Amino acid sequence: MDAAPTPLSLDQLRGNLAAFVTNPYPIYSELREQSPTFMEFVPAGVVPGLDEPLAAWGFMRHADVYAALRDHETFTSARNPLVEKGFFPQLVLIMDDPPRHTRFRRLVNKAFTLRRVESLEPWIARIANELLDDIGSGETDIVQTYTTPLPVKVITRLLGIPGEDYVTFKRWSDTFISSLISISLEERMQNTMEMVEYFGKMAAARRAQGAEDLITALVEAEIDGESLQDWEILGFCILLLIAGNETTTNLVGNALSILVERPDLWRRMREDRSLVEPVIEETLRYESPVQQLLRMTTREVTVSGITIPANELVAIFFGAANRDPKEFPNPDEFRLDRDLRNPVSFGVGIHYCLGAPLARAEAKITLNAFLDRFPRLEYGAAPGVRQSQSPVVYGFEKLPLRLHTGGR
Ligand code: HEM
Repeated sequence: MDAAPTPLSLDQLRGNLAAFVTNPYPIYSELREQSPTFMEFVPAGVVPGLDEPLAAWGFMRHADVYAALRDHETFTSARNPLVEKGFFPQLVLIMDDPPRHTRFRRLVNKAFTLRRVESLEPWIARIANELLDDIGSGETDIVQTYTTPLPVKVITRLLGIPGEDYVTFKRWSDTFISSLISISLEERMQNTMEMVEYFGKMAAARRAQGAEDLITALVEAEIDGESLQDWEILGFCILLLIAGNETTTNLVGNALSILVERPDLWRRMREDRSLVEPVIEETLRYESPVQQLLRMTTREVTVSGITIPANELVAIFFGAANRDPKEFPNPDEFRLDRDLRNPVSFGVGIHYCLGAPLARAEAKITLNAFLDRFPRLEYGAAPGVRQSQSPVVYGFEKLPLRLHTGGR
């Protein structure tokens, strides 16, 4: 048997992790030619408690990413070394393979219908406008005052969580999502236990008496006499918290920063609202909120001429695939006239994002509300700060903007 290849250390290439996370695009284009690249995915000592480096095959080409996401038999979502080592709980659905995934997805699809999302739109618009009323005009860190609270409030409302629990809910979401780097294993476990207890009680209460909310719909969802068990319902609530908040925060923040830099486009959008949707779709490609997720090989497989053994970790770089010049000519340009049939921003295949319609609705409502109120947007006095802790997501930690209500 050949000796295992030596993983390429990302630190060697990029200087440090933070620089890569805040601007991964130059590294992606450097590595795309040699993709799949065997890389030191999490260097030793970065995650408290993880003493061994974690190596993975990085997929950077659109064709490879697309094919791997469609081939869930070869690239399983159900095995993850960080879960096996106890850093994360095994999430339902997103970390399941068929047949369990198929059954679960059919049941939640039944509860998470497009109609349910559409019925939320007037309410999302109300939340958006209330947040903007509170901000008024002038300078504000939009991450703190708008892009973070919006999706958390929307998900709590969708689930039927009482309004006063919003702050706790936000804390859970932050603790869970925030980087493995800054939070100890004990804190993470404590956080998960609190969520499990809370959602367990909610599910039991809705079983006893239903309400007009998603938890009730989940309790009641049934296909061929099968329904979800309580642990599956609370696992799904936790997944929504993780999958739906920071992703949407980042989409909205990325779109606003792109638009601040393009005042002409902003002016055109104010006259022609049909530009809102293409701006959102191109933002999803150009600055993908989800940059990368993991899979594990179940068998030996050859990808772009490179043979990868069974039981190896694969890092699927959604953000790199969305900037592959073979699929998107001049990928580093933000353009509204692209053929956007195959971006991978919301995934591909059986795990395609369940919340894509909701995320798009929140982004559309936000841009329209900002366009209605502000003829001009500018950066604030302090510069925006990209989050620099997790290579999984791409977005702002702080984004001070100056919102002008008057003039053109
Ligand atoms: C811009 C915002 C969002 C982005 C970019 C995004 C991206 C993604 C991606 C790439 C996947 C595929 C994961 C994989 O292949 O392993 C996914 C799955 C998922 N997303 Fe989203 N997401 C967003 C918003 C949301 C929202 C708002 C929700 C729900 C409220 C949500 C719920 C989910 C769920 C439940 C899955 C798992 C589906 C499955 O495994 O069958 N997402 N998302």
